[in-house]
Amino acid sequence: MPTGSRLPAVAQLLAINAAPCATLERLRASYGDRFTVRVPGVPPLVFLANPVDARAVFQAPADVLHPGEGGSAVEPIVGPGSFMLADEREHLDGRSHVRAAFSARTARRHHALIAAQAQDEVAAWPHDAPVALSPRLRAFTLSLVLRTIFGETAATQQLAVDVLRMLDVTATPVIGAPPTRHVPPFRGAWRRFLRQKELVDASLLALIDARRARPTDGGGGDTLALLLASSDADGRPLSRAYIRDAVMSIVLAGHETTASALAWAITLLAHHPHVQTRLTDEIREGEGTRYMTATIFEVLRHRPVFLFAIPRTVKAPISIGGETYGVGDLLLPCIYLIHHDPRHYPEPDAFRPERFLDSRPDPAIWMPWGGGRKRCPGRHLALAEIQAMLTALLRTTRIEPAGDREPTARWRSVIVTPRNDARVVLRQR
Ligand code: HEM
Repeated sequence: MPTGSRLPAVAQLLAINAAPCATLERLRASYGDRFTVRVPGVPPLVFLANPVDARAVFQAPADVLHPGEGGSAVEPIVGPGSFMLADEREHLDGRSHVRAAFSARTARRHHALIAAQAQDEVAAWPHDAPVALSPRLRAFTLSLVLRTIFGETAATQQLAVDVLRMLDVTATPVIGAPPTRHVPPFRGAWRRFLRQKELVDASLLALIDARRARPTDGGGGDTLALLLASSDADGRPLSRAYIRDAVMSIVLAGHETTASALAWAITLLAHHPHVQTRLTDEIREGEGTRYMTATIFEVLRHRPVFLFAIPRTVKAPISIGGETYGVGDLLLPCIYLIHHDPRHYPEPDAFRPERFLDSRPDPAIWMPWGGGRKRCPGRHLALAEIQAMLTALLRTTRIEPAGDREPTARWRSVIVTPRNDARVVLRQR
């Protein structure tokens, strides 16, 4: 097993919680491209910051590395039947039920809806005073993901309110660190989560039952329609509980992530006015989306919302880069460190969309979506949402920073988001 810090596990946990990116950088500077982090209650975590190692992890056979097991932190939210927590055949079957809902074609089909909703959202944002955009971005991406799941006609407003309340828990450590759930400062958050979860489950099951009774509702082609038309390995229709867990998986994976990517994008634009000017010119002149695309690629490089891919649990010994890992080890391809390696990206801490103006990202060293069988199926939708929101915002608004310094990253469940909740000042253009 690669070496790592000798500090007690609690101290290592506190460091990575308090300053995730700086701690990862420091560990690489001390121990190189492969290092082990020990935190209480989980097997040693092996971070792999070398693209060749990361690729080997992504490409490993399904029965050798299990990413499903590595996602157990979110089980209370997504439910035990979630395909995100499954491995091998069960995982692939689960993805196949919803694959069509995530295709590039589906994202194109939703384009007009996404653009219209982004425009309405931006029109409601206050100007000329600091505003924290993260909560608004989460509500925006949640309403979009609910529409793609339930169709345009379903009444999901109350469900959205209940989901956002339920997911307040992801801002606390009780999801990532189960032992904290029953400790006094966090016990209240956990109880509130369980109460909200009951409300969310009841609404989800009611929507599923209503659609089963009237299959033509929803406008057709949405994710719920796909799930109701699918069958399990024995040819039986998917159960209510299974559909509920699949829907909740997509809700969770599909909105906090995109909201966080948008929060980083808006924050970076606030601190880099020359990038804003170039984007605004491109939008005004209507000459394609070359600079916008490069900017989004650079946001996802510089500020990947997943600092590492979902941990892969070793199920059979595997050798990678000269190290042999044994059953039970956890391997984490470290997206952040690969994206911040000066051997791949000169001056990696500089935000510079020009890196991607003349060439598309190289998948060996640009991996905001993870990789292999687990690679994010929602990436087309995410890109469409980010582009629509930035276009709607920059068309009417100038973004200014609300403070002198760019915010650092802080955890929100298993992803990171700007510490200041994307606080900016918006000015009418
Ligand atoms: C900028 C936004 C997003 C980012 C950066 C992102 C990134 C990721 C990453 C890194 C993974 C894990 C891959 C791995 O470990 O190899 C993942 C998984 C996943 N993502 Fe995304 N994602 C985003 C948006 C979305 C959206 C919009 C949806 C759906 C509407 C979505 C649905 C999923 C699902 C269902 C999984 C689990 C896949 C599986 O278990 O096989 N994501 N995403």
